[in-house]
Amino acid sequence: MYLENIRLKNFRNHADTSLNFGTKANVVLGGNGEGKTNLLEAISYISLTKSFYASSDTVVLKINEQVFEIEANVVSDGGMINKVHIGYDSRSGEKAYSINKRRIEPFSSIIGKFPLVFLSPENADITFGGPTDRRKFLDIVISQSNISYFKDLSEYRKVVRHRNKIFGDAKNFRTDTSVLLEPWNDQLVKYGSRIMFKRKLFVNEFRKYIEESYSDLVDVKEIPSIAYEPSFEINDDDAIERISEKFFDIIKKKNQEELKFGTTLIGPHRDEINLKINNLDLRKFASQGQHKTFLIALKIGEFFYLKERCKETPVFLLDDVFSELDANRALHMLKLIESLSQTFITSTNPEIFDVALNFGDTNKIFFVKSGRVETTQN
Ligand SMILES: Nc1ncnc2c1ncn2[C@@H]1O[C@H](COP(=O)(O)OP(=O)(O)O)[C@@H](O)[C@H]1O
Ligand SMILES: [Mg+2]
Repeated sequence: MYLENIRLKNFRNHADTSLNFGTKANVVLGGNGEGKTNLLEAISYISLTKSFYASSDTVVLKINEQVFEIEANVVSDGGMINKVHIGYDSRSGEKAYSINKRRIEPFSSIIGKFPLVFLSPENADITFGGPTDRRKFLDIVISQSNISYFKDLSEYRKVVRHRNKIFGDAKNFRTDTSVLLEPWNDQLVKYGSRIMFKRKLFVNEFRKYIEESYSDLVDVKEIPSIAYEPSFEINDDDAIERISEKFFDIIKKKNQEELKFGTTLIGPHRDEINLKINNLDLRKFASQGQHKTFLIALKIGEFFYLKERCKETPVFLLDDVFSELDANRALHMLKLIESLSQTFITSTNPEIFDVALNFGDTNKIFFVKSGRVETTQN
């Protein structure tokens, strides 16, 4: 897929921005705080129906305005033009997503139709940070390639909140939890087992994508690996039913402990994903360079994985990543990604792009200042 154009009304600091994109690299230049990332965030609405950050619709609405709109023509690999319109009205709190004037409901049914891969300096948390950051990475990839995963995840989160409230109340008011908990335990196991099953499957499939993209990025022989470490042990060949049985058993065993701590201690919200190079834990042993390479390998792997699963070429969003890379690595990555798909690249520094890219119809350059965008070609 690629975006032919976009129009933003009252989105962040963009009062009214209209752009025609190139089909390959679109370089967005400007100083700090001018509105570059905001443009990428608007593109994430088209793919995910929401911001790639956790930001809510009210936060992205331009200050002192009541309605924001995002419009774009998204052309699929097969040449179909999808006229996407997203509107949010803060007075009613209503958000609508439509394609060719037909409303899409529920929103989850659109996830994966216009796949997207996003890389920003904050993504360094995937390799440096805690398990939450790695689960978030996993969840965004699997959600885009599997609609029911997205639904399971939101149901599961609700269940955990309910359960935790029951534990909290039990602590404060000494209520008897056993009857109250039972239906929530069923739900926890139902959605939790599905999530774990899909995560296990995903990690097993994704491994070869990382190995391939990693070996493309480095000359030395280093073997990257990814392993799923669920919050309780399951076997590689366990079906969902078997995972459910184990889940029920462990909940029973953990009951006293959960009451004591007042929270849900077991389940996919406590999973870990282990990343290694040459069998050594990335977080403990890897150099800065290895961290960066691993992250890029994850993202390029994500690109090919989604391309195959969604049967649609994802767009690549690279937010401010080139200032972080040395010139050689940056050039290599730029050439690679530009050859793969339509790419949106923000940077404060125009230098490397002049060397790496020819600007014209396929590659375009935009300048952002205070939420206004100018382009040399249009
Ligand atoms: N809801 C909003 N309404 C108006 N302006 C906003 C809103 N949210 C953020 N901004 C402004 O957007 C700017 C940041 O834009 P951003 O795209 O993150 O900058 P950068 O070009 O550095 O990527 C800041 O000036 C901020 O004040
Ligand atoms: Mg930015």
